[in-house]
Amino acid sequence: MEGLAFSSLGRTQWRTQAEVLAVQGPGRTKPAPLTVVGTERGAVQRTEPRARLNGVVALCATAATLAGQKLRRSWRGRSIARRVKAANVASLEGPKMCIVVYGGTGYIGRAAVLELAARGHKVVVCTRSSSGIGGQQSLQDVQESFTGEGDITVMEADVTDPTALDQLYANLPAVQGAVCCLASRSGGRQDSFDIDYQATVNCIEASRRAGLQQFVLLSAVCVQRPLLAFQEAKLKAEAELCQEGQMAYSIVRPTAFFKSLLGQVKGVKGGAPFVMFGDGTEVRCKPISEEDLASFMADCFWDPAKKNAILPIGGPGPALSFKEQGELLFSLIGEKPNFICVPYGVFDFVQGILDFIAGLIPSQSDLAEYGRIGRYYAEQSMLVLDPATGKYSEELTPSYGRTDLRAFLTDALQEGSKKLESQQLGDQGLGNRLGVE
Ligand SMILES: NC(=O)c1ccc[n+]([C@@H]2O[C@H](COP(=O)([O-])OP(=O)(O)OC[C@H]3O[C@@H](n4cnc5c(N)ncnc54)[C@H](OP(=O)(O)O)[C@@H]3O)[C@@H](O)[C@H]2O)c1
Repeated sequence: MEGLAFSSLGRTQWRTQAEVLAVQGPGRTKPAPLTVVGTERGAVQRTEPRARLNGVVALCATAATLAGQKLRRSWRGRSIARRVKAANVASLEGPKMCIVVYGGTGYIGRAAVLELAARGHKVVVCTRSSSGIGGQQSLQDVQESFTGEGDITVMEADVTDPTALDQLYANLPAVQGAVCCLASRSGGRQDSFDIDYQATVNCIEASRRAGLQQFVLLSAVCVQRPLLAFQEAKLKAEAELCQEGQMAYSIVRPTAFFKSLLGQVKGVKGGAPFVMFGDGTEVRCKPISEEDLASFMADCFWDPAKKNAILPIGGPGPALSFKEQGELLFSLIGEKPNFICVPYGVFDFVQGILDFIAGLIPSQSDLAEYGRIGRYYAEQSMLVLDPATGKYSEELTPSYGRTDLRAFLTDALQEGSKKLESQQLGDQGLGNRLGVE
């Protein structure tokens, strides 16, 4: 099965740093003016959590957002590769490169920027003028948010415009690699096609034209069983990246992110029951933190086994069902488990209403897709599918990283911790999608 193809084939030979830096792609000889923002210190605007979900809506939000700590590493003014300590994380080091990150203002993209910079790479964040959740960050805000984190430059370019991307590369003569963490913020059908497919392909093709050596694409493990628009879009983009050529690729397909599993924390802390579908034991995932995933993606540039490969990846520790996630939460806050089990049949009812509204009001056609997204994540595990059985397999889902959900929640639930604030869902939350406060 495609999703299980762990290729050890590396088309790109390892080079010395001098050789790597000597590589110059075509079309990079006529720099065009680009907006590069300053590096003064300042606060980044952040949106407050908007949706206050509880009960079934909160669980739906959790499920839907599967479709959808701040790294404070000291930068000492020189390139020092951070040593990765956990036993199941290979301690990789290699040549320092110049790497462009698309989607560097997102949840995983930002972590990728910080990880690459911490490893001594020169990082260029390609962004739009208003970015972040709710589009509240200016270019200056983004640059300031990376101040003191390493050699990070923020440049503005429109990923929907191939010419703008060519201009970006024309200004970056020594760039060798790219990381793409672009994703539709809403998960709507058209936006998924525009961003998860077309904008991503624009970045892939511009990177090819510019002669980059490697392109690392963030995808999702759920594309193995594609039933949603964004999954189709991602699969098509993956296929474009896999085409024969000089540019090596790494397609990273992670399981659930932490932020997608935290929709009920606030409610449970406030005494609400933990809501789950069925008996809560069938659907499981191996959650991965943004820092661990970013580390795995950064490894792709140094690990020949990760070149020209499709790489499903989960976090450390065993796969967790919804029920186990709830039990963990109750044990950490010191309360007796209190669950509400919602029958899966509720989705038929909800989907019927959403389909009806979408059919009646064309401008609301994405509502039906959001319903399907919610259902998908309530019914499907975020694990690798075993081609022999057609079932999800914990054993076949590789683990990577240092922080499991228990460790994260233990810290995040401490008095005064701000960790949960960096786990916002924005438009990916079902509450936001459906306009529920
Ligand atoms: N949630 C999960 O549990 C999970 C699990 C596995 C895989 N994944 C996949 O991981 C990927 C990334 O997720 P994430 O949570 O990091 O996403 P995210 O926080 O929503 O970030 C999306 C990034 O894409 C950029 N973007 C979106 N629309 C754009 C546009 N029109 N023009 C320019 N940039 C645009 C955003 O830029 P702005 O800041 O400018 O908006 C942002 O940098 C998704 O593809 C998702 O399917 C998610």
